[in-house]
Amino acid sequence: MNHQKDEPRQPLEDNLNCLDLISGLRKQDRGGQLVDNKKKTSYGIDSPLGLISSFVFAPVYLYATVKGKHAFWDQALTSLPDSAFYGPSLDMGCGRGLVLVKTATRKRQLLGGGPATVQARNSLSYGIDIFDSGDQTGNSPETLYANIKAMGLLDDVVAHAASFTDPLPFAENHFSLVTASLSLHNVPSSDRKAAIREACRVCKPGGAIIILDLLGYVAEYEAEMKKQGWTRVERRFAGLGVVFGSWPTQVLHAIKPTI
Ligand SMILES: C[S@@+](CC[C@H](N)C(=O)[O-])C[C@H]1O[C@@H](n2cnc3c(N)ncnc32)[C@H](O)[C@@H]1O
Repeated sequence: MNHQKDEPRQPLEDNLNCLDLISGLRKQDRGGQLVDNKKKTSYGIDSPLGLISSFVFAPVYLYATVKGKHAFWDQALTSLPDSAFYGPSLDMGCGRGLVLVKTATRKRQLLGGGPATVQARNSLSYGIDIFDSGDQTGNSPETLYANIKAMGLLDDVVAHAASFTDPLPFAENHFSLVTASLSLHNVPSSDRKAAIREACRVCKPGGAIIILDLLGYVAEYEAEMKKQGWTRVERRFAGLGVVFGSWPTQVLHAIKPTI
């Protein structure tokens, strides 16, 4: 898809360069028949091949993908200052929407009121993904839509089908929070670096970037950010709850310089 660099915006029905999946699917779902009208969300299994290949460690893997990742992001998001949620946010490689839902829910809690407040405060939650089902079971725009709908967050979320290896279709210095959960390692090194540069570009001064990814990749993200002149960059072990089979993860937490 061809995306223009553009301001994040309300869903635009007539702008094919900036197709908002949630809004498009919502139109198809007017009769409520497009997805099951269940009230529960579900987020699938990350990298089904990874699960099979780490057979011996399968229980550890399953714990990480079904429970540990949720607990990690709950903690990571609540540890952020409230200001990170007073503005638009972007989740790179949002998949079925685990981090998107958590971010949008936190904004509702902090801002009070409903979607009108979230929109008035320019605090929509954006997601971008190519929806590769090899990276997450049942990964698709429809599954993302079903999860967002089940949480009553359709008015708070905007999702784009695009690769983060291309220039992101957003203006620079825009997002108060940029997240990426186990997504960036999926692309080659030069693309990973380009994605990090884009994350740095669209994050606003004083805004935060949090990346959870497999050990062996995160040091590269840290180096790229430091190359961009970011000084407040911290990398650490992400915890026992997010060890995928025998593969530990790290978290990168960074704040964009204000000058
Ligand atoms: C393991 S899943 C994680 C999904 C979600 N972040 C989570 O934690 O539940 C990795 C995600 O990265 C996405 N992805 C992989 N390569 C991508 C790319 N080049 N651009 C955008 N998304 C990508 C996949 O489609 C998948 O949704």
